[in-house]
Amino acid sequence: MVDAPLALLAELTHRCPLRCPYCSNPMELARAAAELTTAEWARVFEEAAALGCLQVHLSGGEPTARRDIVEITAAARAAGLYTNLITAGVLLDAGLMERLVAAGLDHVQLSVQDADEAGAERIGGLKGAHAAKARAAALVRAAGLPLTLNAVVHRQNLHNLSALVERALEWGAARLEVAHVQYYGWALANRDALLPTRAQLDDATRVVEAARAAHKGRLVIDYVVPDYHATRPKACMGGWGRRFLGVSPAGNILPCHAAESLTGLTFPNARETSLAAAWADSPAFNAFRGTAWMPEPCRGCERREVDWGGCRCQAFALTGDVAATDPACSLSPHHGLLQAAVEHAGGEAFRYRQYGRAR
Ligand code: SF4
Ligand code: FES
Repeated sequence: MVDAPLALLAELTHRCPLRCPYCSNPMELARAAAELTTAEWARVFEEAAALGCLQVHLSGGEPTARRDIVEITAAARAAGLYTNLITAGVLLDAGLMERLVAAGLDHVQLSVQDADEAGAERIGGLKGAHAAKARAAALVRAAGLPLTLNAVVHRQNLHNLSALVERALEWGAARLEVAHVQYYGWALANRDALLPTRAQLDDATRVVEAARAAHKGRLVIDYVVPDYHATRPKACMGGWGRRFLGVSPAGNILPCHAAESLTGLTFPNARETSLAAAWADSPAFNAFRGTAWMPEPCRGCERREVDWGGCRCQAFALTGDVAATDPACSLSPHHGLLQAAVEHAGGEAFRYRQYGRAR
């Protein structure tokens, strides 16, 4: 028996006006013409709810780039799912906000690239984006919806972490996610420019601890030590095929948002396969469930049901072997790759994500 997934990540589109150099979308972006239709998404939401999912994250790319985002939100709500919009905020205006609230939107997670305009616009690659985000935050709060700010942090903005906390308070967020970059896809291509130093990380940890104490009861701050400075990996996705289900813009049903980067696995598509069948029976979902697939040192390790061997996408990106122990673990024979990357990091130039031009 496989437990039900808790949440569905609905990647509605890969289209996005921003060009963040750490984007978690695949290097090969799905064309608009290949995207699931409104009716197909509605069926996916019904299947997700029937399977046991409680919430849906409406994500992308930029989900509000879909002209049918209001209908999609209404369909998710009609299926009985708690709806969270994960947005860059730059396409959100008062009219759209009002229609999303009427459609039953429950929560908004707004990304922020840096604490100040110049830094944010350089990182996101879009002029005017920072001011638009401030306006979007105000619209969300005026609509009475809870707001989470998601700050992806790295070598080129960690010095502004205190100011990012101030921005979260100023914009009325109840929660701030301080999310270190995960290095696969675009972020791996920009790793030298994004990897923080150990000193930056130690400063960040001090800033987070102080801010948590200072703003207790007003702002919750989520923060996890990044893999490249860790000695044990995280349970990526809570373990492969254990908690989480994603559907890509073109309908591929995935155990994690980066799974399409893995060669050798074929993912079922929501146009042909139900979510229930994909979740329970597909070889891709079953490939790394449990512990039977694990190599040493994971196989004999006491943490094998704590972190489930770490991240498959990171293991594949760094070693070429999707079944390898995540190199974030100091017991991995490949752990030195991470230390070498930290020592090699430096430079400021980004390679920006560009829709319609993957290479
Ligand atoms: Fe986790 Fe495997 Fe490392 Fe043990 S050896 S801590 S199971 S990644
Ligand atoms: Fe795919 Fe970690 S991101 S398993």
